[in-house]
Amino acid sequence: MDFTLREWRREDAPDVAQYADNEKIARNLRDVFPHPYTLADAQGFVDSCAAGDPEKQLCLTIEADGRAVGSIALFRGGDVYRKNAELGYWLAEDYWGRGIMTRAVRQICQEGFFRWDIELIYAEPFAHNAGSRRVLEKAGFTLEGILRRSVFKRGTIGDSCMYALLRGEGQFPS
Ligand SMILES: CC(C)(COP(=O)(O)OP(=O)(O)OC[C@H]1O[C@@H](n2cnc3c(N)ncnc32)[C@H](O)[C@@H]1OP(=O)(O)O)[C@@H](O)C(=O)NCCC(=O)NCCS
Repeated sequence: MDFTLREWRREDAPDVAQYADNEKIARNLRDVFPHPYTLADAQGFVDSCAAGDPEKQLCLTIEADGRAVGSIALFRGGDVYRKNAELGYWLAEDYWGRGIMTRAVRQICQEGFFRWDIELIYAEPFAHNAGSRRVLEKAGFTLEGILRRSVFKRGTIGDSCMYALLRGEGQFPS
C-alpha cells in the first residue's frame, strides 16, 4: 500500500485524535501517550512536532489515503549519547499488516543518517510487542539485549528490548 512520510500540519490533529485513540496502540507505548486520546492531546502533539528543533528531532506523519494515519520520529540523544537517535512510531490499526511501518522505518533511518552525524539509531519495544520487534528485525536492526523487568506499565512489570541499527547497516530504498 502506498504512503508518504511528511512534516506534520496543524490540520492533522483530528486524524490523530481519531486513530491514536486506541487501546491496542496505547498499551505498546510509554505512558506519555495518553488513553483516551483527545483532540486537545492531538493538537498538543502536532504543535510540539512542528515547534521542535530540527537538529534534535525528526517527527513525521505517515500519510495514506490522504490522511495522517501514523507517526514516526527520531530524537537525538544528549551528552555522551549525542551520536545516537531514538526511534518511535505507531500506525492506525486499519493500516496494520500491509508492510507500511517496515518501509517507513527504513526511510526515516536513511534520512536520519543522511541529516545527522550519528552512529546509531535505537528502539526499545516492550518484549511482548512481537509486531514491532518484527518490524525492526525486517528493517535490519539487531537485538542488542533484553532489559529484564525494566518497564512498569499499568501496574505490571515487564521486559523491554534494545534494538539498534548502526550507520551502514540496514536495507534502504534506492
Ligand atoms: C507495530 C506496528 C507499528 C506494526 O506496523 P505494520 O505496518 O503493521 O508493520 P508491517 O506490516 O511493516 O510488519 C509487521 C510484521 O510483524 C508481524 N506481526 C504483526 N503482529 C505480530 C504478532 N502479534 N506476532 C508476530 N508477528 C507479528 C507481521 O506478520 C509482519 O511480519 P511479516 O511481514 O514477516 O509477516 C503497528 O502494529 C502499531 O502501530 N502497533 C501499536 C503501536 C506500537 O507497537 N508501536 C511501536 C512501539 S515500540
